[in-house]
This record gives sequence, C-alpha cells and structure tokens, in this order.
Amino acid sequence: MNIVVGVTGGIAAYKTVHLVRLLTKGGHDVTVVPTDDALRFVGLPTWEAVSRHPVTTSVHDDVARVRHVALGQAAELIIVAPATANSIAKMAAGLADDLLGTTLLATEAPVLVAPAMHAEMWRHPATQANIATLRDRGVQVVGPADGELAGGDSGPGRMSEPEEIAQAAQALLSPGDLSGLRVVVSAGGTREPIDPVRFLGNRSSGRQGTALAAEAAARGAAVTLVAANVSGDVLAAARHPSIRIVKVGTAQELGQAMTDAAASTDIVVMAAAVADYRPVTTSDRKLTKDVGGLAGIELIENPDIVAALARGRRPGQIIVAFAAETPEDQAEMLERARGKRERKGVDLLVVNEVGWDRGFESTQNAVHVVGAEGAVVATASGSKAAVAGAIWTAIRRLR
Ligand code: CTP
Repeated sequence: MNIVVGVTGGIAAYKTVHLVRLLTKGGHDVTVVPTDDALRFVGLPTWEAVSRHPVTTSVHDDVARVRHVALGQAAELIIVAPATANSIAKMAAGLADDLLGTTLLATEAPVLVAPAMHAEMWRHPATQANIATLRDRGVQVVGPADGELAGGDSGPGRMSEPEEIAQAAQALLSPGDLSGLRVVVSAGGTREPIDPVRFLGNRSSGRQGTALAAEAAARGAAVTLVAANVSGDVLAAARHPSIRIVKVGTAQELGQAMTDAAASTDIVVMAAAVADYRPVTTSDRKLTKDVGGLAGIELIENPDIVAALARGRRPGQIIVAFAAETPEDQAEMLERARGKRERKGVDLLVVNEVGWDRGFESTQNAVHVVGAEGAVVATASGSKAAVAGAIWTAIRRLR
C-alpha cells in the first residue's frame, strides 16, 4: 500500500523512524513528508534512508509532477506522527502552507494522527476542540498515551508506540468483515410523554447500541444509528463518516425511523429499550395534584417494533433483538431469552442481566447470544465495545 507519513516538530519524531521501518518491512511503500520543524529533530538523510524515497518539505520541489497534490492523491493512507498541538490546529483549520498541509488537503485517503505534546497542551480546550473537529471529519486518532514526557513531566501526551500506530494503520487498510453491508442499530431508551414535564422512561444510556454502531462502522459497514434520548457524551463514540445518526424520542418515532431504515439494510440490530406502554393521552398542561390525573394514568400498549420488522423482513435480512432481564438464575434468563427469540421471530437474541447496579448506565456488560433452536451461539463480557465486537462476530457467522 502507498502510505504517506507526515512528521511534525516534536521530540517523538525519533520514534517515527521505527514506525517507518515497521511499515516498509510490512511491504508498504512509504513516503515521508516532514515539516521544516521536524527536521530539527531528525534529519532529512535519515528519512530518505528508512523510506528509500527522496524527501522534501517544500511545495516548490518537483513542481513538474505537481508533488504538492500528487502525494495526497496517490496515498492510500496518511499517518501524521507525531502530530503536535500546532499541526493538529493547522489540520483542523485546513491550512496548507507546506508540503504536508497541501498533501493532507489533496487526499481522500483515511488519515490517522498520533498526537504528542505536553499534557497541558493536550488538555487545552483549543486542542480538544481541534481533535473533535478532526474526529468529526473521520480522522482516526491513536493515543496519546499517559506516561513520561520530555523534561521529566508526565501525563497524557506521550506519542503511542510505533507498534500500536502500525497496528491502527493496518486496521484502517484492511477491508473490514462488514464492508459492503448496510446496517441499522437502535440505541437508548424511549420516553413516552405524560405532560410537558414528565415522561415514562427507562435507564438505558444507549452505550451498548452506540458501541455496536461504532464497531460496525470500524468493520466497514454503512450504519444508521437510531438514537432514542442518548446524551451527546455517549453519542460522541459514534462519530464516524460511515455513521448517520437519527434522533428520536418516543416508541412511535423509533418505530417509524427503524421501519424507514430497515427497508434498505441487510442487518437490523434492535438494542434500544422500548417502553412497552404509553399514556393514552398526553396533557398539554402539567398535571397537578389539585387537577388530578397523575395517580391513574391510563396506558396503552406500544406495538412490538422488532417483531413487526421480523415479520416484514427483506429476503436474507438478519434481525437481532435484545432483552434485559432480572432472572433468579442463568437458567431462567436463558429460558426467557429462548422464548422471546421465538415470539419475536428474530435470528439472534442478545440477553443480559440487569439490576440496580449492573447493565444499565454501566460501561461494562455481560451477554449471552441465543440463536436458532435456542442454542447459545456466543457469550461475551467486558467493555461495551468488546461486547459489541463479539456480537458482530456472531452476526457475521450467520451470513
Ligand atoms: N421491543 C420492540 N418493541 C417494543 C418492545 C420491545 O421492538 N414495543 C424490542 C426491544 O428493542 C428488544 C426486544 O424487543 O430488542 C425485547 O424487549 P423486551 O422489553 O425485553 O421485550 P418484551 O416483549 O417487552 O418482553 P417483556 O415481556 O419481558 O416485557
């Protein structure tokens, strides 16, 4: 693969020499584009020797071959390592006052940055805003690691090790096992309004659904994430160019958004917690004790969204439902899961145990995945990202 490694002016540049070696040893064709400042840390002959290509910092060299855009156009991946606070700010602003800047603007290839700076500079709101801008544009960020920094300080800001950066690069270059697939994932919990200040809701944070969307995008799928009342903090994990987010509030809105999206997807993952009932009427005015009405709110059942999607599925479409249970023991949990999978007519049912202190609002999860004939086809526990990985692997096996 054709990789451009941009090097900006930080002491971690010496570690990038090893990164370039790892990449060339891995069979990649690497062109190094340092900034002038970077050359104060590691000289031009070193970059030419490790990459076995001529190296320049200027847009005025090799003009006949329009090097200032040709490098970016030909690149299949651009890595910026180290990426200083200043270079990250320049990338966020789209500045192109040197060869690295023009190369980054002229590319449509994935971009990976490995920040390196002092902890204070990393934490500064300006740097954080710039990193958020880059992430929004689909730039992948690896690190920074927490550790010893130049000058004896320590904290977040240390450039990730070359092996880790090379691994992240490899993940970006290899097509994921979900590439070419369109998927829709629901996340969060619905809220059924009672009056302008109250609703019937549940404790689902949307973390597991968001992690499922992020994992699917990372593995190459085109993702629609239907998010029911998911906070901005949680949704930040789903910032990815291949993820489209549709925000909904009530079960009816969620049902409509899922039906619309499912019409053109290969896989439906229904991770949202849907309110089983909604108030028959929603009051335009706040219900008060003197007016009454709060003690006897009349409820009506919401339609089962995932069961309807399963009944009307497109040929070959895979449908996955979730269940959060509070069983006496594991046998009862699996029994309930098997019954629910049958009743809803879905391919897989992912069940997890919830309680006052587990499942909801947590960053960790533990699940069993129940498939055809009630067989447990996968189990997973750990971070919600790790659990998402195992669930997609189980779904992938079905195809
Ligand atoms: N679900 C749905 N529409 C509903 C209720 C639930 O699509 N109106 C989906 C959920 O998103 C989840 C699965 O069905 O994927 C199981 O949800 P759960 O609330 O456990 O199912 P219920 O059928 O409500 O079962 P229970 O009898 O345990 O309440």
